[in-house]
Amino acid sequence: MGSVDGGNINQPALGRPGVAAARAGFVRQSGGLRWHLRAFFGRNRHADFKRAVAQWLEGWDPPVEGLILVGPSGGWCLPGAFLQRYAHVVSVDLDPLSPFLLRWRHGVRVHPVREDFVTALPRLLQKYPRHAVLFANLLGQLPLERTDHEHVIAALGRVLEQHHWASFHDRYSAELEPRQARAARALSTHAPMTPATLQQLGYSGVWIDHGTQDVFPASLPRQYFPWRILRRRFHWVEAGCVAPSRSARPDRSPLGIG
Ligand SMILES: C[S@@+](CC[C@H](N)C(=O)[O-])C[C@H]1O[C@@H](n2cnc3c(N)ncnc32)[C@H](O)[C@@H]1O
Repeated sequence: MGSVDGGNINQPALGRPGVAAARAGFVRQSGGLRWHLRAFFGRNRHADFKRAVAQWLEGWDPPVEGLILVGPSGGWCLPGAFLQRYAHVVSVDLDPLSPFLLRWRHGVRVHPVREDFVTALPRLLQKYPRHAVLFANLLGQLPLERTDHEHVIAALGRVLEQHHWASFHDRYSAELEPRQARAARALSTHAPMTPATLQQLGYSGVWIDHGTQDVFPASLPRQYFPWRILRRRFHWVEAGCVAPSRSARPDRSPLGIG
């Protein structure tokens, strides 16, 4: 529940009390220099995935005043045309190179926030009540940065209930023969991907669950994009868009009138 302080409704917190925020740096398990090199040298192999993300984002055009972009890194998987749509972009990333790479690669000037999004986002949502939020392929990496990742994911829907938001994130990953990986096709479904889905798709072996099963409301239409991140490393990436709940739109007065 939000609390009322001096007439403002405070955003509920995202993280578990006492869990330390992830620290900014050039080398991170979830991104940083290693990711920049991987994205640069893997750009041809990543082309189909990036096209799928671009097509999906073309269909997401919420009526907002700006965008809070969470985990953009260098925007290696993000289409410039999508970023250029917004008059004001706030980017939240631990990587100090992120704003420079976004400008260099996409010509987009962002308002950079170099901080753990778990601490920054509640404050930013309050400051920018009419901005949409895009989580750009980081929620599946959250276990690498925070021990309370399950708590954070469980709190997301409530913290974001007044906002348009979207996310694409790792759902499952595995070592996969290149031939099998190349044969994978995007899926559009209301049914969340589960181990049973992987079985139906004919996969065996060990699959890593990225802990993102509860990012979206259960009945939300969603898509799954295949991504050959490395020659033999394959990810299913889940993508979905969520609209504000009717009872929580920011244009309603605190008394629910209007
Ligand atoms: C795999 S990269 C995302 C790829 C990126 N969207 C692209 O198109 O290149 C994950 C990014 O999320 C950032 N990140 C991870 N955990 C974070 C956190 N808790 N707060 C803010 N940024 C975070 C990392 O620094 C990294 O840049």
